[in-house]
Amino acid sequence: MAVRWTGPRENLAQFEHVLHEVGLAPRPVPFLDEAFHLDAGSRACVRALPAAMRGELALQSAASMAAACALTPQPGEDVLDLCAAPGGKTALLHRLMQGQGRLVANDASRRRLDRLRDQLQQLGIEGVQILNREGAALANELPNCFDRVLVDAPCSGSGRWHGGDPTAWSTWTPSTPKSLARRQVGLVSAACTMVRPGGRVVYSTCTLAPEENEGVLDRLLSKPPVPLRMVACPLHVPGERPPLSSWLDVTFDPQIAAARRIVPGCEGMTGFFIAVLERC
Ligand SMILES: C[S@@+](CC[C@H](N)C(=O)[O-])C[C@H]1O[C@@H](n2cnc3c(N)ncnc32)[C@H](O)[C@@H]1O
Repeated sequence: MAVRWTGPRENLAQFEHVLHEVGLAPRPVPFLDEAFHLDAGSRACVRALPAAMRGELALQSAASMAAACALTPQPGEDVLDLCAAPGGKTALLHRLMQGQGRLVANDASRRRLDRLRDQLQQLGIEGVQILNREGAALANELPNCFDRVLVDAPCSGSGRWHGGDPTAWSTWTPSTPKSLARRQVGLVSAACTMVRPGGRVVYSTCTLAPEENEGVLDRLLSKPPVPLRMVACPLHVPGERPPLSSWLDVTFDPQIAAARRIVPGCEGMTGFFIAVLERC
C-alpha cells in the first residue's frame, strides 16, 4: 500500500508526521517526493485520516505512480491519458503538470469513467477534458495533437496476483495474453500517431506476461505507424529489472532493452512493465 499527498506542498512534512503518529510506518517512495509506502496499518485506517476526508491524499500502488512519473509531463503541455479510468494516474499527471496545460482523460468504458469523475472530484481536480472513445479510433480524431500520451493498457494483471486473492485470476485462460496483445498493439500504435514528432509515449501494464509487454513492443517496432525510437525510463524504480530479450521462439528487437520490468515484492512494489517511446 502506498499513499500520495495531494494537498498543499507546504503541508507535506506535517502529513508525513501524521502518518508516523498514527502508526502507518511511512517510507518515502524514492522517485516521488510526495509519496510514501505504508508498511503498517490498513486502507481503512488511511481513509479515516482527516486529510482523506479533505481530499488531500490518494491511495495508489507505487508501481502505478511510476508509470505516470515516467511520462514526465510538464506544466503547459498537451497530455493524453488514453486508458484513464478510474483515474489514479490522471490525477497524478495533473499534479505533475501543476494543473497547467491540457490534460485529456479517455476511456472506452462509460461506467469506469464515472469512477474517474468521482475520483477527480474528490481530489478537487478541475479542468480535465474527459472522452469516452475506443482508444485506437481516437487516433483518427486527434493525430499529432499531444506532447505526451500515457497508454496504461488493459492487461491480464498478473503483476498484482497473490495467493490470498484467487478471484484475481479467475477469468484468466492460456489465450488471454494473446488476445489482449492484439488490442494493446492497436492502442500503443494509435498513441504514437497522436504525439507530435519529438513527443513521448509511455506504455505500461500491470502484468508480467511477455506477450503483453516485450511482445507488444516488438510488434510495434517491426511495423511502426510513424518513425519511433525507444528511450530509457527516466526514473529508477525499486524492483526494476531489464526486460526479456526473447520469449519462446521470438527474439525481440534489441531497442526493447530500454524498457523496465518491475518485479513484485521488492520494497513493496507490485509487478509492472514500463516502456518509453519517442516519435522521431
Ligand atoms: C489498467 S486500466 C487503466 C487504469 C488507469 N490508468 C488508472 O491508473 O486508474 C485499463 C483501462 O483501459 C480501458 N480500456 C480497455 N480497452 C480500451 C480501449 N480499446 N480504448 C480505451 N480504453 C480501453 C478499460 O476500460 C480500463 O479502464
